[in-house]
Amino acid sequence: MSDNNPRPIEAHEGGKTRTGEGLNVLRVDASARSEGSSSRKLGDRLLERLHEESQTAPSVKHRDVAKGLPFVDEEWVGANFTDPSERTDRQKQVLELSDDLVGELREADVLIIGSPIYNFGIPASLKAWIDLIARARETFRYTENGPVGLLEGKKAYVLMASGGTRLGSEIDFASGYLRHILGFVGIHDVEVIAADRGMARGGEALEMALAEVDQVELPSLQLAGTSH
Ligand SMILES: Cc1cc2nc3c(=O)[nH]c(=O)nc-3n(C[C@H](O)[C@H](O)[C@H](O)COP(=O)(O)O)c2cc1C
Repeated sequence: MSDNNPRPIEAHEGGKTRTGEGLNVLRVDASARSEGSSSRKLGDRLLERLHEESQTAPSVKHRDVAKGLPFVDEEWVGANFTDPSERTDRQKQVLELSDDLVGELREADVLIIGSPIYNFGIPASLKAWIDLIARARETFRYTENGPVGLLEGKKAYVLMASGGTRLGSEIDFASGYLRHILGFVGIHDVEVIAADRGMARGGEALEMALAEVDQVELPSLQLAGTSH
């Protein structure tokens, strides 16, 4: 889709179109670079499009995980595994950040993850975010047939950059993992766009990925349904 006509983005809740309300966008960035980052440039471009083509301005929450997130530790695991009704004040406090991260993910209609490949996988900061949002009873639950994701009706864009690793190759342990973990929490509608092998391809890698962002289908939005 490459027409230049701005078109409205509609959001549906149980078949009802939301009017007067913009999209909720959660943008998660993991590049350690604030300047010159290809994955961040891809995110900027996608957000520009969402702003330009939405009738009502989207509401954007930016979570820059490269600024640092704690790793889950013994106390966190203990708190998470304690039944919510039995948690102590201290345990509630330990889970506060994780609760906030889960809350903003739940609220999002659109998730944009910008991530480099670091050492053939995702940056540790992004893994820390994943460890904090992948929570039984909150974003997935166990059933007789195995785990089921609880986040429904979301659209995700995964915008990646690499120096030499070809996306989708057998040494790319990042994109497949991101797809898997998003699916695990119920986010199955995932577009992956990559400025990959930037070292070998030079500026072309970013240019082509930006062109893909310009063409990618924007969501005909569905709300997060039952997970709200
Ligand atoms: C710590 C570190 C590890 C990296 N490891 C890889 C790697 O395994 N494979 C790869 O293709 N590029 C690797 N790179 C290069 C980055 O993926 C590349 O520079 C990419 O453009 C970074 O994303 P950004 O432009 O959004 O910052 C690494 C870069 C850093 C800083």
